Amino acid sequence: MNSRLIDRFGVQDTPFFYYDLKMLHGNVDALKAASKPHGFHVHYAIKSNANSRILELISETGLGADCVSGNEIKASIESGFSPDKVVFAGVGKSDKEINYALEKNIFCFNCESIQEIEVINELAEKQDKVAKIAIRLNPNVNAYTHAYITTGLEENKFGINASQLEEVLEVISNSENIKLIGLHFHIGSQITDLTPFKNLCNKINELQQWFLTRNVTIEHINVGGGLGIDYETPDLHPIPPYEEYFQIFKDFLELQSGQEVHFELGRSITGNMGTLVSRVLYVKKGINTNFLILDAGMTELIRPALYQSYHKIENLSKRHLVDISRAKYDVVGPICESSDCFGKDVTLEETERGDLIGIRSAGAYGEVMASSYNLREKAKVLF
Ligand code: LLP
Repeated sequence: MNSRLIDRFGVQDTPFFYYDLKMLHGNVDALKAASKPHGFHVHYAIKSNANSRILELISETGLGADCVSGNEIKASIESGFSPDKVVFAGVGKSDKEINYALEKNIFCFNCESIQEIEVINELAEKQDKVAKIAIRLNPNVNAYTHAYITTGLEENKFGINASQLEEVLEVISNSENIKLIGLHFHIGSQITDLTPFKNLCNKINELQQWFLTRNVTIEHINVGGGLGIDYETPDLHPIPPYEEYFQIFKDFLELQSGQEVHFELGRSITGNMGTLVSRVLYVKKGINTNFLILDAGMTELIRPALYQSYHKIENLSKRHLVDISRAKYDVVGPICESSDCFGKDVTLEETERGDLIGIRSAGAYGEVMASSYNLREKAKVLF
């Protein structure tokens, strides 16, 4: 946010999310330029930001949608995503959600258990339809990210273990209203060292051999999402490293003839466009530290409290001043929880009550994870 924008927003009620649509478009353009030459198909992970204006803008770019609930499917279709580009994952799809997805003729159910495949078959039969499914396999590949956003290890609840594949194929071959079209994987989120994606490719190649020896045709491989962004120094890397990321799959995945590759990216598309703008309510002297008490907290952005993650913090009112002294602050929110803290020992320009503070990279998993705890009002969104 530049000073002109601060003037524009300064009078607004705080806190609010500011979404920079130019950045969003920059990300999508870069993503398309890097994925198109390889013929890759990308689904936007709705869970990262489901704001209706953002969904409409992303749907206009022709990306598909990756959904994890019936309401996400509904929101994506209502925002213009084509149902035949919608994938539906999740370990706990309810009958109501499955029925809705069947009615809408979505592209693919990413199935996470044998029982789920049986239920989809039953419900599809009732609607006289054939549901297209991918088996979500747990590749047991370490993503080396925070434990709470690691999904591809045997101990995680997601996906089906490879040891159960014989049984899965048996169930599928006895299910007349199911068509197996793909294999699905997702190893975790906020992955910044890209090596785990190479490991994923190698694992997929091994698993593909298993299917080949059984003459089972797999039309597409869905490798999930997880590409991370630079939270510490967002201005140094305004565009995620899409070229390097897609090149890994081009180089390391051994595809069968005609096989498509699908991706489900969220954070890398929406993360850096968002700033949570908040006002300093109080500057309070502690024993060893000074607290900046903001009017935004974990109810607007829960990531620091939940994953101990850091979002760059800036004093938007003072950062243009050259000759200003600096000080260290613990930047905290107003919620009655000690974990409601955005950062400790953060160096900022000398800050006063009323200053606007920007908490950067809040476009992904911010607004969507907001809560009304302490009966807080929902923060507005400005563009
Ligand atoms: N596909 C599947 C099956 C997923 O579970 C996820 C994210 C994605 C795709 C998109 O991943 P992305 O490209 O955004 O990394 N609330 C956490 C992140 C949870 C991610 C859940 N699954 C956070 O704030 O870091």
